[in-house]
Amino acid sequence: MLIRVTRPSDCTESEVTPERVFRNRRRLIAGATGLVGAGMLGVPMTGRAARGPALKHNPGPFATEEKVTPYEDVTTYNNFYEFGTAKDDPARHAHMLETRPWSVQVEGEVEREGPVDIEDLLKLAPLEQRIYRMRCVEGWSMVIPWIGYPLSALIDHVRPTGQAKYIAFETKEDPEQMPGLRYPVLKWPYVEGLRMDEARHPLTLLTLGLYDEVLPNQNGAPVRIVVPWKYGFKSAKSLVRIRFTQRQPVTSWNRAAPHEYGFYSNVNPQVDHPRWSQATERRIGEDGFFRRKRETLMFNGYADEVSGLYAGMDLTKYF
Ligand code: MTE
Repeated sequence: MLIRVTRPSDCTESEVTPERVFRNRRRLIAGATGLVGAGMLGVPMTGRAARGPALKHNPGPFATEEKVTPYEDVTTYNNFYEFGTAKDDPARHAHMLETRPWSVQVEGEVEREGPVDIEDLLKLAPLEQRIYRMRCVEGWSMVIPWIGYPLSALIDHVRPTGQAKYIAFETKEDPEQMPGLRYPVLKWPYVEGLRMDEARHPLTLLTLGLYDEVLPNQNGAPVRIVVPWKYGFKSAKSLVRIRFTQRQPVTSWNRAAPHEYGFYSNVNPQVDHPRWSQATERRIGEDGFFRRKRETLMFNGYADEVSGLYAGMDLTKYF
């Protein structure tokens, strides 16, 4: 984003999985799937061996026919600047994050203020799988099988007042556990926000796992938000505070570069980033270096579900 300002077209060969490696992986996945009976889970599974604890869940809506991004790519090519700005930094350093005990502080325009323990969050609503396309503002995308439940279940549980128009997210800030906090890349902690109707939208997921397991640390353990029709940076990781507000909250990237990153940040191929086009994207783990990039879809392909939220708004102004 601000650092490593690569244009989407600037990808290097090492960033792209070579076709041969990719095919071998698929073969491995197919083998492992037979052994563990992953058919029940709806997505191919790599071997359980060096992976995190399993997380039970039901199948959910919003599946897609598109090929799911390999687990290895989902968990090793990340942005989580609290652990460094290179794509492999989160996978290398996020083991330092202690995810227990953990609670999310609820406050502001809400009847039930106070901490919600992670074990209670895990039980608040049935966990289901949502296979979402994710599009990063940098021009790459993935298809990820998340596990979670609609954020609206938590919102209903804590009962916001009639004054609550927005929801603000604050994420973990601990320099002992997060080496990237040493660098003033952003003003820490990382903060994000949504309008209340966006937060209540059934696509917005309070996320506790991916593939068939609890969230790996680099993907935002133990709890994060996933908003699939917005650029990836709206999906705040490792949440510690949720505040209900009357006014539009400050968000990290908008504060850092307001002319580049808006509050809404809906995926929109018609509104370019000031320094690069947003019209196409490269699918991680699949699109080879010489392959044509795919077209980016309005609202990341979720226009039928979410365009009504922005009826009458000039999306070049509210980008
Ligand atoms: N959350 C925190 N706390 N810190 C971050 O640096 N990066 C964002 C978002 N959430 C980020 C964050 C960006 S830019 C992206 S693209 C997604 O996380 C990537 O996460 P994922 O690969 O696990 O989906």
